[in-house]
Amino acid sequence: MAVPIRPRRSVLYLPATNAKALAKARTLPVDAVILDLEDAVAPEAKAEAREMARAALAEGGWGRREMVIRVNALGSPWAAEDLAMVAASGADAALAPKVDGPGDIARYHAALGAAPAGMALWAMIETCRAIPALPAIAACASGTRLAAFVMGTNDLAKEMRARLLPGRAPFVPALAATVQAARAHGLAAVDGVCNEVVEMGVFAAEAEQGAEFGFDGKTLIHPAQVDPCNAVFSPGAGELAWADAVIAAFALPENQGKGAIRVEGRMTELLHLEQALRLRAIAEAIALG
Ligand code: COA
Ligand code: MG
Repeated sequence: MAVPIRPRRSVLYLPATNAKALAKARTLPVDAVILDLEDAVAPEAKAEAREMARAALAEGGWGRREMVIRVNALGSPWAAEDLAMVAASGADAALAPKVDGPGDIARYHAALGAAPAGMALWAMIETCRAIPALPAIAACASGTRLAAFVMGTNDLAKEMRARLLPGRAPFVPALAATVQAARAHGLAAVDGVCNEVVEMGVFAAEAEQGAEFGFDGKTLIHPAQVDPCNAVFSPGAGELAWADAVIAAFALPENQGKGAIRVEGRMTELLHLEQALRLRAIAEAIALG
């Protein structure tokens, strides 16, 4: 069954304990919100975060935003209660941190057994062990709730002892491998956060890099990042004009049954028609707001 396309340009994290951020996020034009119970919440606030996330979902006011809750890792003292709460929360997805391999996906999937069938499992790709296991992890999409990869570049930098600088050179292989594994198995792929919340030129350059790699969007940590992120990951007017020209050209009677035609002075194949139809579908999904 074809899954309807959802835009995931802007995916905003906020600590589930931050009441002001919970109110603010309901007003921001983000495609998805991740209520964090993990890294952004101190150990002594874990129970409060769990209760605030549950209440935030129950209260509603999130519109069409896709709602995701990031749980604490299996093996931590909080995971079982986090996962039980998420399963009953009405969230669209649970985000599992520090996934190392297919075994972890199986364990999170099993822990979500009581959740509604439509609840997805998203996986953080943020450990060195996960990188060579990416194809095997992505293959879990068949037979489990796994539906998306989220890059965790801060944790990956910490484990690698690499520097997270503009250009992200040490992370380029992992970024490409994550997108490739995701696409091979029909998963969404969302880029990691940029810690810069003041210099939006720095942020926009990193967002552009993520779009160039093929990510669907980027995880965000601050309201200032939302508009530049949506701008980078939305199909542009030029792209949409091209898409319309390709769709119109392939619909002409003289082009029926052809695999390659000439559009706007360029060779255009059926694969371009597929790209054009996807751009249109994304633009329509975005327009729904
Ligand atoms: N989501 C929603 N609203 C947010 C927000 C977020 N992630 N981050 C800040 N805001 C809100 C603030 O509540 C404040 O709202 P107000 O105008 O109603 O007072 C406004 O945006 C301005 O915030 P600002 O003062 O610039 O932020 P700060 O300096 O207090 O905090 C951070 C900066 C980085 C600590 C904060 O943005 C944050 O906690 N981000 C998310 C961290 C996270 O979830 N990390 C886990 C994944 S990596
Ligand atoms: Mg992390």
